[in-house]
Amino acid sequence: MTPLLQCRELSVEYGGVRAVDHTSLSVEPGQVVGLIGPNGAGKTTFVDAISGFVPTSTGSLVFDGHDLAGRGPHQRARLGLVRTFQSLELFDDLSVRDNLLAASEHPPWWRLAGELVWPRLGHSDVRAVDEALDALGIADLGDRSPDEISQGQRKLVGVARAVATGPKLLLLDEPASGLDTEESRELGTRLRALLTRGITILLVDHDMGLVLEVCDHIFVLDFGRILAEGPPDAIRADRSVIEAYLGERMSNADEAGT
Ligand SMILES: Nc1ncnc2c1ncn2[C@@H]1O[C@H](COP(=O)(O)OP(=O)(O)OP(=O)(O)O)[C@@H](O)[C@H]1O
Ligand SMILES: [Mg+2]
Repeated sequence: MTPLLQCRELSVEYGGVRAVDHTSLSVEPGQVVGLIGPNGAGKTTFVDAISGFVPTSTGSLVFDGHDLAGRGPHQRARLGLVRTFQSLELFDDLSVRDNLLAASEHPPWWRLAGELVWPRLGHSDVRAVDEALDALGIADLGDRSPDEISQGQRKLVGVARAVATGPKLLLLDEPASGLDTEESRELGTRLRALLTRGITILLVDHDMGLVLEVCDHIFVLDFGRILAEGPPDAIRADRSVIEAYLGERMSNADEAGT
């Protein structure tokens, strides 16, 4: 099968620091693919590089048959490569639904900033917004204010906002941070359900319960390089992964009773 996203030998440097170091990774369509690793391993930087928010110093990126070289974040989003951010910003003075519509309806200063991230939604996209809320199981929250809903629901709104733009590949950076176990499970169920809508997912998260449960395939990043890759069972048993990352995470999870 042709991968939906093929990254070859990608590097990103910040000054003298090579945050991503000749990393190759591919994402097959119709899967949830995990990207895990210790703090500072380069996961967010990798997502930034794929979505066009930081320049790469080596390597190539092909998405859905398109070479991404020279394409900015907005152009990549238009091709269906849409990301969320590690810190979720919602506007508390707008309803949940209007947060999803914000990219098309806000005044120019916001539109300018917003369009770097979200492709502009047209009038017919009110329907896309409602479908996205429905896909995340939060159709009943459309008229609520973000400050009235739970952290778990806010996270679902953040994912819905990306879903409303019609992505082929959704890049999610720590969607489960701040969620309790039950909220995280609900998120996992919703993410799996997005596959049936033709959305492939690259999931970055430290919640190992979530990642091992929902992913079809997992890449482990350490010091900007791929340490291991494979299905969840293989990753769970991989000695190098346990030493670099998983051992600590799993014992923390055991202590937390999860
Ligand atoms: N804007 C930046 N300028 C300079 N260095 C940066 C910048 N962003 C990240 N780094 C460095 O790049 C490396 C990778 O950071 P990155 O944020 O990608 O890691 P991460 O895997 O997402 O970590 P976390 O799990 O904590 O979110 C780290 O050494 C970090 O200090
Ligand atoms: Mg990060």
